Amino acid sequence: MFSDRTRWNLDTNRLSEVLAEHRAAGKPLLDLTASNPTDCGFDYDSQAILRALCNSAALLYEPDPSGLISARRAVVRYYAARGNEVPVEDVILTTSTSEAYSFIFRMLCNPGDEILVPEPSYPLFGFLADIQDVKLVRYPLVYDYGWQVDFQALEQAITDRTRGVIVVHPNNPTGHFFKSGETAQLNAICSERELAVISDEVFLDFALSGGRPVSFVANTGALTFTMSGLSKISGLPQMKTAWLIAGGPEELKKSALARLEVIADTYLSMSAPVQLAAPVLLEQRHGFQKQLMERVRRNLAELDRQFAAQSACVRSDLEGGWHAVLRVPATRSDEDLAIELLSRNNVYVHPGHFYDFPSDGYLVVSLMTRGEPFAEGIKLLLSMF
Ligand SMILES: Cc1ncc(COP(=O)(O)O)c(C=O)c1O
Repeated sequence: MFSDRTRWNLDTNRLSEVLAEHRAAGKPLLDLTASNPTDCGFDYDSQAILRALCNSAALLYEPDPSGLISARRAVVRYYAARGNEVPVEDVILTTSTSEAYSFIFRMLCNPGDEILVPEPSYPLFGFLADIQDVKLVRYPLVYDYGWQVDFQALEQAITDRTRGVIVVHPNNPTGHFFKSGETAQLNAICSERELAVISDEVFLDFALSGGRPVSFVANTGALTFTMSGLSKISGLPQMKTAWLIAGGPEELKKSALARLEVIADTYLSMSAPVQLAAPVLLEQRHGFQKQLMERVRRNLAELDRQFAAQSACVRSDLEGGWHAVLRVPATRSDEDLAIELLSRNNVYVHPGHFYDFPSDGYLVVSLMTRGEPFAEGIKLLLSMF
């Protein structure tokens, strides 16, 4: 009765099973994978958020496929504050970056067409592509004095079916930002072969090394789609507010926008109360980002302090985002290691294969975790080696 595209292996993996048993048994848990900012002890201006959602204008239905102009203008102001001028008509609101990916895949790809994605990266891409009948082809990020794109491998991965290249800027979990030289190389490849650049910038504001990373909204060298949203920027994933912005050569951009508007019009999925609240919700980013970056820096300093006292494990250089990639002795599979760490020491981390690291010996921890469990969890993790 069901489509091939949904013929997934839905068996739970061993680590999830052990985690479920661990929780069911009521055992203590040091969860170093925190990914829900609303559950990590940050202070939100709850009054302002709730007031913004209570707007009598929401009683009127005024559909706009691209999203309410007041909400799109707030997105434009966000980029203006970063030094980028974005025309409001180039912005399309979506309920999540996942929805934005779906719109873009639907617009660019026939069934079986290919999109290049970085490896390692964010685990949801596989499902997003399956649902849209898109084939993902990986291009490797290599670690050599910091993470970087293997452009030779990227070019070799391109076929007649390739339609676009996804850039995660900065990447989750490696925290690598695209540098201007890499963007120029990517533009040259994409414009010559008529491929789109698809930039996922949900972590753009979380740079660790000072300076302000450049958004792909300013990219003119190839047809470009830039995505972001409130789930990370303001730490409000429950508000289901994101966007995509079309950019690049004018004619291509116009054709893309016309098509995207039809796709968006078909669903009209954004709700009025949230769109009306978007300007206030976007302003929440200042308070949230300050707290989050303080925690990330403090956890990173604690990680480095503990790592400095041993030599078995190292962390990879981190330019931004909320995750740290730990290189650990590959004495067993990273899944076995994560299971052992959980069963023996009550510490939950993500094994590298969760993010498609090409080999064992990688663990990923979230730097958004509260300070005490983080420090204790890292201590117990290091005690394994
Ligand atoms: C790289 C990346 N893109 C997108 C998302 C999800 O964003 P949204 O909640 O807007 O779908 C995540 C969530 O972890 C992510 O890591």
